This record gives sequence, structure tokens and C-alpha cells, in this order.
Amino acid sequence: MTKICLLLLAASVSWVQAQTPQLPLDLIQLPTGFSISLYTAAAVPSARQLALSQNDSSASGSTRILYVGSTASEVTALVDMDGSGSNVTAVTVLTNQSAPNGVVWHQGSLFVAETRAITRYDNADGYAISGQAFPSGTVIAQDWNPVQDDHSLHFIGIGPDGYLYVPQGSPSNTGPCDPYLNITQCAINRMDLDGSSQVTFATGIRNSVGFAWDNSSNLWATTNGRDQLDGVGPVHDDRPDDTLFYVPAGTLPGKLDFGFPYCHWEGEGDPELRSVGSGYPIVDDVNFPPGTTINNTYGQFAYCSNVTNDQPPSQALGPHVAALGMTFSTAGMFPAEYDQTIFIAQHGSWDRQPAIGYRVMNAVVLPNGTTTAYNYFATGWLQNATTDSYWGRPVDVLPLPDGSLLVSDDYANTVYRITYNASNIAPAPSPM
Ligand SMILES: *[C@@H]1O[C@H](CO)[C@@H](O)[C@H](O)[C@H]1NC(C)=O
Ligand SMILES: *[C@@H]1O[C@H](CO)[C@@H](O)[C@H](O)[C@H]1NC(C)=O
Ligand SMILES: *[C@@H]1O[C@H](CO)[C@@H](O)[C@H](O)[C@H]1NC(C)=O
Ligand SMILES: *[C@@H]1O[C@H](CO)[C@@H](O)[C@H](O)[C@H]1NC(C)=O
Ligand SMILES: *[C@@H]1O[C@H](CO)[C@@H](O)[C@H](O)[C@H]1NC(C)=O
Ligand SMILES: *[C@@H]1O[C@H](CO)[C@@H](O)[C@H](O)[C@H]1NC(C)=O
Ligand SMILES: *[C@@H]1O[C@H](CO)[C@@H](O)[C@H](O)[C@H]1NC(C)=O
Ligand SMILES: *[C@@H]1O[C@H](CO)[C@@H](O)[C@H](O)[C@H]1NC(C)=O
Ligand SMILES: *[C@@H]1O[C@H](CO)[C@@H](O)[C@H](O)[C@H]1NC(C)=O
Ligand SMILES: *[C@@H]1O[C@H](CO)[C@@H](O)[C@H](O)[C@H]1NC(C)=O
Repeated sequence: MTKICLLLLAASVSWVQAQTPQLPLDLIQLPTGFSISLYTAAAVPSARQLALSQNDSSASGSTRILYVGSTASEVTALVDMDGSGSNVTAVTVLTNQSAPNGVVWHQGSLFVAETRAITRYDNADGYAISGQAFPSGTVIAQDWNPVQDDHSLHFIGIGPDGYLYVPQGSPSNTGPCDPYLNITQCAINRMDLDGSSQVTFATGIRNSVGFAWDNSSNLWATTNGRDQLDGVGPVHDDRPDDTLFYVPAGTLPGKLDFGFPYCHWEGEGDPELRSVGSGYPIVDDVNFPPGTTINNTYGQFAYCSNVTNDQPPSQALGPHVAALGMTFSTAGMFPAEYDQTIFIAQHGSWDRQPAIGYRVMNAVVLPNGTTTAYNYFATGWLQNATTDSYWGRPVDVLPLPDGSLLVSDDYANTVYRITYNASNIAPAPSPM
């Protein structure tokens, strides 16, 4: 199915989009009252980060434009001309890019992050609406990223403080983490919108992908834990966890270190569905912190229990789930208990037995960094965990203004929309 799909895409020219192959949406399991559909009939090649133009309102009849980054070479605009959601068409606005994974819309411009450059394209919506590719943009940062790099893809985002945030992953599974130009590896970096004043914002983060701010301007982000801790096998399979971490509003750049490559975290409870909380810190099997002695390799470890060295995450998300994009909900369509909760797309493991992830999770959080619930939201892309067979891989999540939730998928090459309708809840059987 994938091979055929890729051939179709390769053969298609910019404006002629391949149709998404029939996808088994009935296999997706959601809480009662929710349903999932395709946001567009067009195929969206290697769909990654999602960005919505804010040059629209939720009023019916207004044009809505969703930009979709990719790990291939193009950026796609999904144009909903009448805002009805019934005829969302695809326009290829950029081609010949180097994995333009990250996209963010800001005051009429689209910022696009390739592996080694961030470029700003002005009047993006005008081009998307008229079905034209963007002319060349303004490069604001480039060449900070070494060519040899395991984690060269970037999501990007603009904070409530007006800065552009750019995660840079570890160059390999376990570091080392070096500054390169001013954009540090294993960190979330920050810069002005013109690329100047680059600073390392938070460090000790192996590979952060998705991030978002809550309504009190606290930053929340996902990060992917390392592989092959103590080799392949049971130790690797269940530890460390991917984590959801938290940087309180007002934190000064460089003040928080999340421990990588010395310290990792292991959640408590079932690896499939971790209990609420951070779990406990574990020490790396290779990268011992300088000047420290190991006492218990996989248990409590004084160096990593010290928050100066290793800030605890808010939530352990599960081992190797590949937590990618995350977002806060927008109030509206979903029941009130989802307000200001976090949706997290998990791409799925590639080297764990049994396979894990391939799902969208929901975390209920408080503004002080505490998680109070961690639940399944959408599952069913993973068909068989033993054979690691799957038909889709969630990458990013983003609410529409009406509160429904979009999910990108770079394996099925599509964008889904998850909606809620209280009338779909079957009434309890009436007593005889
Ligand atoms: C869907 O939208 C496209 C682009 O705006 C337009 O060309 C086409 O006529 C529309 N199709 C329908 C059925 O409305
Ligand atoms: C694609 O980009 C490369 C590098 O920027 C450039 O050399 C090449 O001419 C471009 N190809 C096309 C078809 O635009
Ligand atoms: C807003 O959308 C209109 C078309 O609806 C477009 O012409 C205009 O350029 C857009 N403005 C910005 C700032 O994106
Ligand atoms: C990089 O950091 C140096 C030293 O702090 C600073 O002078 C320079 O302007 C920074 N570069 C960018 C592009 O921000
Ligand atoms: C080993 O670690 C445990 C748990 O953190 C601690 O109670 C104990 O004091 C440590 N022992 C040594 C010799 O450091
Ligand atoms: C925590 O670690 C820092 C830096 O290594 C050290 O200065 C401090 O004494 C440690 N605190 C405790 C309570 O161990
Ligand atoms: C902000 O989020 C908190 C929960 O984290 C919620 O209690 C509060 O009502 C929200 N405020 C607004 C203005 O949405
Ligand atoms: C976070 O807030 C909750 C509710 O106010 C409180 O119970 C909890 O102790 C707080 N946690 C921290 C770490 O401050
Ligand atoms: C998953 O695959 C294994 C190995 O082929 C097979 O034994 C098992 O029945 C499959 N499970 C499901 C639920 O299909
Ligand atoms: C919700 O479901 C009911 C019953 O199936 C249906 O009549 C109604 O049109 C739906 N509402 C929306 C907004 O889809």
C-alpha cells in the first residue's frame, strides 16, 4: 500500500494531488461520542507539523488554511475555501525542500523549518488561496545543524512572549550535546523572529519535538528517551520513558536542565499506560556524570534525584512511544473535562517488543506542572504489537477554532479530524 502510494505521489505534479487510499477508520477507538474522519480527500505527503492561518475566524463562510510540513520535500496548504469542511483541497506551496518538518504561521507569514534552515514566506495565505507556490522567502537562520545528525527534524513554535522556539535534538542516541553556532544540541533554543539573539532556553533534552503553552504561558513539551539502554532487551524495552516536561512561565534561559545524557526517567505502572506522575530517575549506563559514583544503575541515583541536575518531568509517557506533537485543547466542541488538557501524538516504537505507541493520548494537567490524569484518546493504528504492523502513525495534533482536533499522519499521508457529538452517545437501555 505504501509503495503504491509513494509511486502515485512521485508521479503527480504540484497541483494534482493523489487521493488518500481507503483507510480503515473504523479501527480507530475513541471515547464515547467522538468520531474520526479524513479532513481532506487529498493525500498529504509525509504529513508532519500542522499550522493554522489565524487570518480566519470560526464564523462560517470564511476561508480556512492549514499548512502541513513534511519529511519529504514539499509543504502543503489545505485550503477550505468556504470554511464548511466539506471540500478541503491541497495546494503544494513549497517543493524541493530538505525535510520541511516544521511550520508556524505568524501575522501573515509562514515560517518553515528544514533540517538546517528556517525561512519566512510572507503573504502565505494569498499564494495558497490562488493555488500558487510561494516565491523564495527570507532565510532567518541556517547551517547550525551538523550534517551527521540522528535528530535533524525540527518542529517550531512562536511563544506568547513573541520569540521563535527551535528544539535541536541530540546528534546521536546518547549525545554528546554541543552548541553549534548558538543553537545548542539536546536543547530547546529561542531567538527573535529575524533569527537574531539566539539563546539556549532549556537543556538536557534528548529530542524534543512538540511543545505548546498553556493559558498561563507555561511551556510544556514532549521529549523522546534514548534507545538501547544497557543493550537491546528487557532493560531497553521498558526504560527509559518518553516524557512530558514543563518550564514555568518566567524561567530564564539556561536555568532548567532535564538531565540528558546522564539521567533518564522511568514511569511507574504498566509500560502501556503509565501511572500519573514522573516516575523515578535512572542513571545512564554509559554517560556517567563527571565526578560521581554509581550506586544502583537502574534505581534511585543521587545525582539524578537532584533537581539541579535533572528536572523531573510532569508525566512519563511510556517507553519508546515516540511522543511527537502536542497541543492544548480549544474549548468548544469537546466535553468540558477536556478544556486545557494536552493531546499528545505518539508515532510508535521502532525497536521495542511488543510495539507500543501509534496513538493519541490525553493528559490532564494543572498550571503548576502537575499531571492529574493520563489516558488513551485515540488508538487502533497499531494492528499487531507482536509483529509491529500498523497502518498509520500520528505525528501532530492541532485544534480547529470550533474545538475539533486535527491529527497528521506521515505514514498514511493524511490529516484526520476528530469531532464530538453528544447525540452519538447511545442512551442507556430502558428498563423492561
Ligand atoms: C472544491 O474546491 C475547489 C478549489 O476551491 C474548487 O475548484 C471545486 O470546484 C470545489 N468542488 C466542489 C464540489 O465544490
Ligand atoms: C532544488 O534545491 C537545490 C538546492 O537549493 C538547487 O540547487 C536546485 O536547483 C533546486 N531544484 C529545483 C528543481 O528547483
Ligand atoms: C488574509 O486572507 C486574504 C484572502 O482571504 C488574503 O488576500 C490576505 O493576503 C490574507 N492576509 C494575511 C495577513 O495573511
Ligand atoms: C550568538 O551568540 C553571540 C554571543 O552571545 C552573539 O554575539 C551573537 O549575536 C549570537 N548570534 C545570533 C545569530 O544571535
Ligand atoms: C545508594 O542509593 C540509595 C538510594 O538512593 C541511598 O539510600 C544510599 O545511601 C546510596 N548508597 C551509597 C553508598 O551511596
Ligand atoms: C545538586 O547538584 C549540584 C550540582 O551538581 C550541587 O552543587 C548540589 O550540592 C547538589 N545538591 C544536593 C542536595 O545534592
Ligand atoms: C486556564 O486553565 C486552567 C486549567 O489549567 C483552567 O482552570 C482555567 O479556567 C483556564 N483559564 C482560561 C481563561 O481558560
Ligand atoms: C499543584 O496544584 C495542586 C492544586 O492546587 C496542588 O494540590 C499541588 O500540591 C500542587 N503541586 C505542586 C508541586 O505545587
Ligand atoms: C499477531 O501476530 C502474531 C504473529 O504472527 C499472531 O500469532 C497473532 O495471532 C497476531 N495477533 C492478532 C491480534 O492478530
Ligand atoms: C449529532 O448526531 C445527531 C444524531 O446522529 C445528528 O442528528 C446531528 O446532526 C449531529 N450533529 C452534528 C453537528 O453533526
